Amino acid sequence: MEFFLDTADTNEIKEALSWGILDGVTTNPSLVAKTGKTFEDVAQEIIKLVKGPVSIEAVATDTSNMLEEAREYATWGENVVIKVPMTPEGMKTVVTLTKEQIPTNVTLVFSANQALIAAKAGATYVSPFIGRLDDAGQNGLQILEDIVTIYDNYDFTTKVLAASLRHPIHVLEAAKIGSDVATIPINVMKQLFNHPLTDAGLKRFMEDWKKVPTKKKK
Ligand code: G3P
Repeated sequence: MEFFLDTADTNEIKEALSWGILDGVTTNPSLVAKTGKTFEDVAQEIIKLVKGPVSIEAVATDTSNMLEEAREYATWGENVVIKVPMTPEGMKTVVTLTKEQIPTNVTLVFSANQALIAAKAGATYVSPFIGRLDDAGQNGLQILEDIVTIYDNYDFTTKVLAASLRHPIHVLEAAKIGSDVATIPINVMKQLFNHPLTDAGLKRFMEDWKKVPTKKKK
């Protein structure tokens, strides 16, 4: 499973890159707003920092303006992926961008039928929002599993990108289901490293190591 970082914060990206396990980044308008920087500045900085795919979102609501945005952003780097909302106008945009070989990520997906449409439109990635489905009283992971099953049934090449992941169990279950990608906030990515028995075991090893006699210098 590929790991993307769900952020527009370049310090977080630098930290995750230093671990050597980061495959890409996803942003959205809310994450960009949190940085206090202009969209152009923050997007271009991230595109340069990261070798893997970087999703940046088109904010127009009609196909013509979404295409205009997408074509401009695609000139910013070969790793740019255009996030397009799951609407009829968005899907028309995806069909055209696919023909132009511009990668897309269909966002704000909350049902398996929406994911089916995104795959038929030729999307590169589809982003079901697991945590937000849970918040609304639905089972986000069940919808993720349905999407993976449907894509397997028909050999769709669209990659499933589990988004809105809130805790390590979401990541674990997404991996078991076979999601191609998990986009993870940095706090959750840090939690993946941790286990209390690792900390306790390391502490004991360090204490015991002090008891090992050292070789006397001649
Ligand atoms: O980037 C899309 C998604 O991951 C947002 O997550 O936590 O705002 O629902 P969240």
